[in-house]
Amino acid sequence: MTINDEKTRPVPESDVDLFADDALADPYPLLRVLRDIGPVVKLARYGFAALTRYDAVRAALEDWETFSSASGVALNPAINAAMAGTIINSDPPHHTTLRSVLSSRLAPRALAELRPAIAEKADRFVGELVARGRFDAVTDLARTFPVSIVLDLLGFPEEGREQLLRWGSSTFDAMGPENARSARALPVAGEMFAWLAESCTPDRMRAGGFATAIHDAAARGDIPREAVTPLMAGYSIPAFDTTISTLASAVWLFARFPDQWEAVRRDRSLIQSAINEVLRVEAPIPLFARVLTRPYVRDGYRLEEGERVLLLFGSANHDERQYPDPDRFDVRRYAADHLSFGYGIHACAGQGLAKLEIHAVLDALARRVKHIELQGPPRRDELNNMTRSLSSLPVAVS
Ligand code: HEM
Repeated sequence: MTINDEKTRPVPESDVDLFADDALADPYPLLRVLRDIGPVVKLARYGFAALTRYDAVRAALEDWETFSSASGVALNPAINAAMAGTIINSDPPHHTTLRSVLSSRLAPRALAELRPAIAEKADRFVGELVARGRFDAVTDLARTFPVSIVLDLLGFPEEGREQLLRWGSSTFDAMGPENARSARALPVAGEMFAWLAESCTPDRMRAGGFATAIHDAAARGDIPREAVTPLMAGYSIPAFDTTISTLASAVWLFARFPDQWEAVRRDRSLIQSAINEVLRVEAPIPLFARVLTRPYVRDGYRLEEGERVLLLFGSANHDERQYPDPDRFDVRRYAADHLSFGYGIHACAGQGLAKLEIHAVLDALARRVKHIELQGPPRRDELNNMTRSLSSLPVAVS
């Protein structure tokens, strides 16, 4: 039987707007509504289809031949065009070539070499914060520590690199559907691509950094010259906001669930599974898109070649069919199969590094802090089309 012989029924529609302010601030109730409607739902307002349940999202991530990234994983044509040729917006064989350039730099052996320095830096950094007694877990901790680590690894020129955090956030924002937010962010994303092309020349960068390794690969002929800027962008955009979001979410969840912090504090070997659980509960990137290269049928619902399909990682991670009582934060839960890093050939290339940074911070906190207390409501002032992050989280530690 071919796909054209399968009996199909109309794909259900919903007028839920995942990009309205309320939904960006708290998408989980709406994601549940979508999951309950079905594994495939058309978002009438935008004309996109969305995969809502864990099994469907994971299977799509695995099937890159049907769910292509080459026409862009963002939701509007302007940013997809600006990001053409980036690692995230490509399919094999080009994707395979790009991915190989830095794979050894982010492999377990290379990360093991970085571990002692990152742990020592986290220890010093957290020690100073804890000594203050009160701090903002977003502005003083989450936005400061990962930036200091990743900027050094990337090895960009000193001048301009302080903008990377703003450029990265804006690029994510620009990746949303056509709305006021993405329109505002697009020119800022453009500044980053211009800076990478004009200022990040080999003579200006730190020897041994990722950016230099990318130029070296082009000089050897491993990648075409025109791949250099998109590849540098591909490692800069996702390197900051995502880790910042996870660190902030971790502190927030532990402040809200002191029994879970107590469990981690008493047994620090739980930190690994706690990180997975934080990522499951709060996906820093709740979705990305793909474009169908051929018709696709799921549970009798058929989508056509050329359709843009949203893969709802944040919904998959809360799918009650996969994770019983999904809104409960439980550091002992098996959550290593969450989809916050994606899955398949595009699975996050920096996940080992991100986990290393987060582990170092949580370990340093667990050795020093018994109680984390919220000193006011967490704030989410800077809504973003494609990433979820707190903007302020005042805490007191003892
Ligand atoms: C907690 C932190 C992070 C999260 C949640 C995260 C999430 C993701 C997700 C969901 C994807 C999949 C994209 C897709 O399927 O289309 C991805 C890809 C990627 N991430 Fe991360 N990321 C994180 C940290 C990092 C860091 C620190 C780096 C860089 C050092 C990085 C570099 C990349 C790259 C280069 C890709 C593209 C991989 C490819 O297309 O083959 N990420 N990330």
